[in-house]
This record gives sequence, C-alpha cells and structure tokens, in this order.
Amino acid sequence: MSAAPRLASRPIHSPYMEWAKTRAAARFGLAASAVASVGPGEFPLPIDGGDFTGPSFYGWPPLQEALATHLRVPSRRIVHTVGTSLANHLALAVLADPGDAVLVEHPTYGLIGDTARFLGLEVVRFDRDPARGGVPDPDEIASRMTPRTRVVVVTNLHNPTSAALDPVLLRHIAGIVGERGAWLLVDEVYLDAAFAEPLSSACDLSPNVVVTSSLTKVYGLPGLRCGWIVAPEEVADAAWRLTDLFHVVPSHAAERQSVLALARADVLRQRAHGLLATNHALFGSFLASRPELECVPPAGGTVVFPRLREGSVEALARALREHHETSVVPGGFFGSPDHFRIGVGIATATLTEGLDRIGRVLDARAHLGA
Ligand SMILES: Cc1ncc(COP(=O)(O)O)c(C=O)c1O
Repeated sequence: MSAAPRLASRPIHSPYMEWAKTRAAARFGLAASAVASVGPGEFPLPIDGGDFTGPSFYGWPPLQEALATHLRVPSRRIVHTVGTSLANHLALAVLADPGDAVLVEHPTYGLIGDTARFLGLEVVRFDRDPARGGVPDPDEIASRMTPRTRVVVVTNLHNPTSAALDPVLLRHIAGIVGERGAWLLVDEVYLDAAFAEPLSSACDLSPNVVVTSSLTKVYGLPGLRCGWIVAPEEVADAAWRLTDLFHVVPSHAAERQSVLALARADVLRQRAHGLLATNHALFGSFLASRPELECVPPAGGTVVFPRLREGSVEALARALREHHETSVVPGGFFGSPDHFRIGVGIATATLTEGLDRIGRVLDARAHLGA
C-alpha cells in the first residue's frame, strides 16, 4: 500500500499570525497594531468608474506615480506589493539564499523570523531591549554578523515597543552592515506614526538599504493591501520578477483604490496622529497609576509594550479574555514572555474600557497565578 502524501516539511506556519486571525478578536480588542480602520462613511473608496482589469504588469503606472509622489523617490525604485508582508517576503527572498543567515531584532514581529525560516535562512538575534527604550547597540550587531549574514532586519518604529531609530544611529548601522557586504532591510510600516517631524525614510541612507511599508497600519486601510518596497533599482527589478511567481499581478480594483487613498494620505495621517496623541496620553495616565507595570513610553507609534513586573502574562491575558472580554498580545509571541502588547491606535472608548479592565485584573491579582 502506498504511503499517504504529506505536506512540505519546511516551516509553513506562523504561530503569531494564526493567533491574530483566530484568537485576538474581543469586545475590547487591544491586540491590534493598526490605527482604527477607515470606514466607508469616513472615506468612500469606489473604484472610480475604471475597469476591473488593467495593464498592471510590472506596476500599474498611475499607482507607481502616486507612490513615487507619496514616497518622494523615483518610481523605478518602487515595487508595489500586497501589504508589507509580501514586501518583506519578496525582499528577503531576493536578498538572501537558503543557508544564509539573517540578523533579526529581539523582541520582534513574528512574521519576520517565520518568513526567513520559510525561505531557509538561519535567524540570529540582536537585542532591542524594551528596558533601554528599544535602542539597538551597533557593536552588538557587528559582533553577531558572520560571513554568512546577508541581511539585517530592523523595524522602525519598532514592533512591539514603538521605539524610533535615531537617523544617525540608523546610518551608522547601515554602514556597519554595508562594510560586511550585507543588506539592511528596514520595515517602516509604523514610521509615519512617529510624533517627531519630519518623517524620514531610511531609503536614501545608504545603497545597501531596502525599505518596506504599506497603508495598512498608520493610514487605517488594511483591506487595500497597498504595500511597497523601495530599493536600489537592481533589487526592485529582481523583486518585480519574483512577483511573477507569486501572484503575477495584484488586484486591479485595489490598485485603483490605492491611487485614491494615496491622494488623501495627508488627511489620513493627521487622523492617525490626532487619535494617537489622545490615546498615548490615556496610556500614560494608566501606566502612572499601575506600579505592577514598567514601560519606556515611546514618542508615538501604534503599540506599547509594558513589562509585568511580577506574575504571569499568560494568566493576565487569560483572565482578560475569559472574564473581561478584552484581548492583549502576550509577549511570548515576540520572544518576551514577561511583556504584553497593547494597541493604542484603536478607538479611544475601546482603549479606555480595555485599560480599565486590565486594571481590574491587576487589582484582583489574578495575574499572580491564583
Ligand atoms: C513590523 C510589521 N511589518 C509588517 C506587518 C504586516 O503589514 P501589512 O498588513 O502591510 O502586510 C506588520 C503587521 O503587524 C508588522 O507589525
């Protein structure tokens, strides 16, 4: 009798994303990392009377132009992708070969490591310690690199702490990485949620820098899946060729809507900043009232990552879910089991109630494992 066919044996699974899709929803959902989604009442996105199908072969020209204007880089350096997720996947795939090593921050957004492992890359860590405000140490990065290290990946703002990388430090890191013949991949999906102006992308810091982002988080438009890579031209060309193997072309209706959305990017960013300013102040007051928690408050961003000084984050998250209709992301998903992530881009009323419920669980000392 022949054996039953089996699935691929390489890691084809993301524990965090599965949890986010199936377990994160709650009445007081504090697990989201995005700014509250823009609804049709606020910003209608018809498909502008155009066709459902268009010449999107290696970028639909009107969208490439809209992205070039938004990002202030020539369109030949831009690859439109299905969200930052595919941007990161394509970038890692064209920058490294199976068996190479990739240096990834700790704590980190799970999909970066999962994608790298799926591509056959060895994942090595460097620290972005929340207690030090998520600031990486360039000497540590240098010391962790070996001749096999092809890519160093950072998020800016950092998921999960929302720490912003100082541009001088980032340039220094790009230099260290470049001297060793490696690429620096900067995931900027949260960058425009930084309160500091002007917002500067790393895309022109150095010729070995590749940047990814999307309209998903700060712009409140996750359903459009409008993402991109900004890279040196030869990297962009390679990533375009790789899209042939993934989806050939993206949804043209979404491309048309993305052009409309990009024309409103300033309004959407202001919307985000208004909400985030209110919500960060709210979180600041909550934090000041809770000696059980410790957190370096970030200057902007859509998430915060407090540490629970004593007790179990799993017990805290369970009590919130089972008795308070509230969800947070347990820090174990980021490799930091004594922390948890709270989204501060959500509706203020939801955040207010969710924080209140976290306070009730802490008051009841349910996190101490009783
Ligand atoms: C650092 C980081 N990069 C990428 C993504 C995915 O972004 P997108 O929805 O644009 O694919 C996320 C989502 O949480 C993220 O946190």
